Amino acid sequence: MDISALFLTLFAGSLFLYFLRCLISQRRFGSSKLPLPPGTMGWPYVGETFQLYSQDPNVFFQSKQKRYGSVFKTHVLGCPCVMISSPEAAKFVLVTKSHLFKPTFPASKERMLGKQAIFFHQGDYHAKLRKLVLRAFMPESIRNMVPDIESIAQDSLRSWEGTMINTYQEMKTYTFNVALLSIFGKDEVLYREDLKRCYYILEKGYNSMPVNLPGTLFHKSMKARKELSQILARILSERRQNGSSHNDLLGSFMGDKEELTDEQIADNIIGVIFAARDTTASVMSWILKYLAENPNVLEAVTEEQMAIRKDKEEGESLTWGDTKKMPLTSRVIQETLRVASILSFTFREAVEDVEYEGYLIPKGWKVLPLFRNIHHSADIFSNPGKFDPSRFEVAPKPNTFMPFGNGTHSCPGNELAKLEMSIMIHHLTTKYRFGQLLERATGFSMGHSRFPKTDCPLCWPGSRRSKCRMTELPLAFLYLERGD
Ligand code: HEM
Repeated sequence: MDISALFLTLFAGSLFLYFLRCLISQRRFGSSKLPLPPGTMGWPYVGETFQLYSQDPNVFFQSKQKRYGSVFKTHVLGCPCVMISSPEAAKFVLVTKSHLFKPTFPASKERMLGKQAIFFHQGDYHAKLRKLVLRAFMPESIRNMVPDIESIAQDSLRSWEGTMINTYQEMKTYTFNVALLSIFGKDEVLYREDLKRCYYILEKGYNSMPVNLPGTLFHKSMKARKELSQILARILSERRQNGSSHNDLLGSFMGDKEELTDEQIADNIIGVIFAARDTTASVMSWILKYLAENPNVLEAVTEEQMAIRKDKEEGESLTWGDTKKMPLTSRVIQETLRVASILSFTFREAVEDVEYEGYLIPKGWKVLPLFRNIHHSADIFSNPGKFDPSRFEVAPKPNTFMPFGNGTHSCPGNELAKLEMSIMIHHLTTKYRFGQLLERATGFSMGHSRFPKTDCPLCWPGSRRSKCRMTELPLAFLYLERGD
């Protein structure tokens, strides 16, 4: 058989299998009297994946929403999906009926982060982990971290003085160090370099093809992951030998009466670093971009922060109380979380056939609450594209503002994230002048025939896009000078 005949046979065979599968599922849904949500499923197998990735995903979702309403079906990345973009539907999936929708991730991601990490679970094991994580990140626990976070922020700022930095990269170092502080307490400096080396290799494989063969990124990642677990096992054994108690996340995990295994602890520590670092660094980068673009807001934030400094001696530390006297800064953080909506959506999977508003969400289908669509709905936030912190002078309506998710899996690190952002903003605005160097960075790089690349897997080295499509994170460079 020549190659084209073989190709045709394979193609016809897979079409046949696809239609057979559709027929079987139709019959199954047929037994339910409910219709599926409106929408289109695209081509066999690929569904509408090309449409999704050939344009900005948010435009794809928005145009679908306009056409089909706030609950619609599609088929992307090999999975039938129901997209939801109303506050009520998001509450249904994430809060009121959360037991009917389990979190779902590709198997390769689970292997990389660790199968026992909090994100992948529901029920008793999830509840137990969540209690331990929340214990370490609630305000009473993190309030004592203010001086240490402050010193990490000051070290970062000092290292940037008089240079041009890639904001996102540098913020990732800052948020990584704060994440380690929250996990290992002051001991973090002892392990920082080893953990950093392994974690940075691990994350490079996060979006790689899951082929575990020597030489592949995935393989290197898995090796780094193993090394990370070994380092963590060493730290655990040192702590057990010392017998002292700690108020950090590791202390919370180790202090549980029904002990977690070393493997469970390692998976969850790697998971928390993963959840804490890029998210917070991304929001911090957006904050700087919006402040640089809105000088009036920057001036008002600087005044607010200066008022806190005014009553302090030179070099005196911030207190937890000071961080609660930053209403405008806090609105800037909220508005940035809304406009940038760095996590556009999350994934769930229906664990059984579910009825929502007269539609059937079949068992096994993915369900995606679209946070960004909700945050950018003109019915909820007037003039949604505009950066306007004053809109948060009035609290948003319930379930309309979910940068940290909602319900059972909502972000347990949100207080820490807001705290480390406030501290960074305090020192940045009170001691430095800074400018956004997007223009200069672009010119500079083109002049040297190379282009700065982002970390996004969809942005290849040499890409001439000034905006990353997936995260829309601009290639923002910051120039920092001491203000005095
Ligand atoms: C601005 C920064 C952050 C944003 C925007 C953010 C956002 C989110 C969102 C939306 C979720 C829920 C995902 C879902 O429902 O599927 C989540 C979960 C989570 N976040 Fe964050 N997060 C941030 C920072 C942090 C930090 C600093 C930590 C830890 C120190 C953290 C730890 C976690 C963990 C452990 C979960 C999983 C909770 C569970 O499954 O029960 N996050 N985050």
